[in-house]
Amino acid sequence: MPSNASPSHANYDETLVPEYSLPDALVDEAGSAVDDVGAWRHGLRPEILRLFEQNVYGCMPGPASQTTVQVLEEGLALDGRALRRQIRLHFHGSGAHSHADLLMYVPTASSHAVPAVMGLSFFGNHAVTHDPAVQLNSAWMRPDKQAQIVDHRATEASRGVNASRWSIERIIDRGYALVTAYCGDFDPDYDDGYANGVHPLFYRPGQTQPAPDEWGTIGAWAWGLRRILDHLETDAQIDHRRVAVMGHSRLGKTALWAGALDERFAMVISNDSGCGGAALSRRRFGETIARINGAFPHWFCDNFRAYNEAEPSCPVDQHQLIGLVAPRPVYVASATDDGWADPRGEYLAAVHAGPVYALHGHSPLGLAEMPQGGTAHYENRIAYHLRIGKHDVTDWDWQQWLDAADRHLHPVDSTAEQQPR
Ligand code: GCU
Repeated sequence: MPSNASPSHANYDETLVPEYSLPDALVDEAGSAVDDVGAWRHGLRPEILRLFEQNVYGCMPGPASQTTVQVLEEGLALDGRALRRQIRLHFHGSGAHSHADLLMYVPTASSHAVPAVMGLSFFGNHAVTHDPAVQLNSAWMRPDKQAQIVDHRATEASRGVNASRWSIERIIDRGYALVTAYCGDFDPDYDDGYANGVHPLFYRPGQTQPAPDEWGTIGAWAWGLRRILDHLETDAQIDHRRVAVMGHSRLGKTALWAGALDERFAMVISNDSGCGGAALSRRRFGETIARINGAFPHWFCDNFRAYNEAEPSCPVDQHQLIGLVAPRPVYVASATDDGWADPRGEYLAAVHAGPVYALHGHSPLGLAEMPQGGTAHYENRIAYHLRIGKHDVTDWDWQQWLDAADRHLHPVDSTAEQQPR
């Protein structure tokens, strides 16, 4: 990581947070307050989405011109409590091809379609479980000793290295399917000018990289989540109206962007997502826009660089991203020792998204103060928890998310209008 991205060079002093004012989540660009759901849905929601596309994540295209599905493997897992299915999605377009491998565990106990949790992983399907039947991913991976990556490739020793972050048995025993894929199958996580991954499937003749307002790598990952959901719509064992999208850290930013864009995700869970995720950029606490664009120039669209050291001039802040999930349940999760991701900024963004939920007749977060570490608050559709510990995903996080999902992840109201995108 370049030194300008070093967590040790960041501000962690609350008294040094600059004074800032946030864009009102219910006021449009022309300055008019929106006070009914119709005006929000048909006016403000598309306007804010467009602002995030143009200024932060870039516009993403629709599905590939051709997608084919290949079943790689199926078998029983977890002593017969789950059906394991490995599927390869092939994407074709503009003379290019790429593929992504899904790993699914579906509870066998239910004879009905089950709700699911979907999330991308940092190191591949083989890393989320010790199940030896899971295929080892052979794609490029970021260097990581602990994940046993050698020469940018996973090794047999990489199996299960992230298993503690995926409470698969708990998820299955609670009646949910787990659907996961490697983020790098959609776009490897390095700055290569977008020559690999799914971007080239959409280049116009002569185009070699996205325009300044077109998708970067987070956009490609979010695109991938949407394509996985397309596939789940064809799987009779999954209740595709009850799919929660979950992500940690850079993939928490991704889960929020996917869930904001695509109303088919019935619930959104962002964990320790920080800058460009749930945290308010205007606080400049921990990681800032300049630092993230410096260290990870490929994550956001080029236009986002205009806000390096100039957060107040960005027309949106991240509470509005959370507001775009309304009225669906959204769960923002932080950890006490994760200053780089600014837990307080994540909490405040969840608070300031509240008016959008109130407009829809739902209670906002309802926490007047930053809560104590080790407490979870998911009574309302905007939920928040502050885990005690470091930047990570733990079984405690999953326990809270599954409790919240049990409470809020109902089939999408068939009378609710959905915006086609
Ligand atoms: C870095 C980056 C964060 C990101 C994190 C992660 O720390 O600066 O923005 O969330 O990596 O994805 O683990």
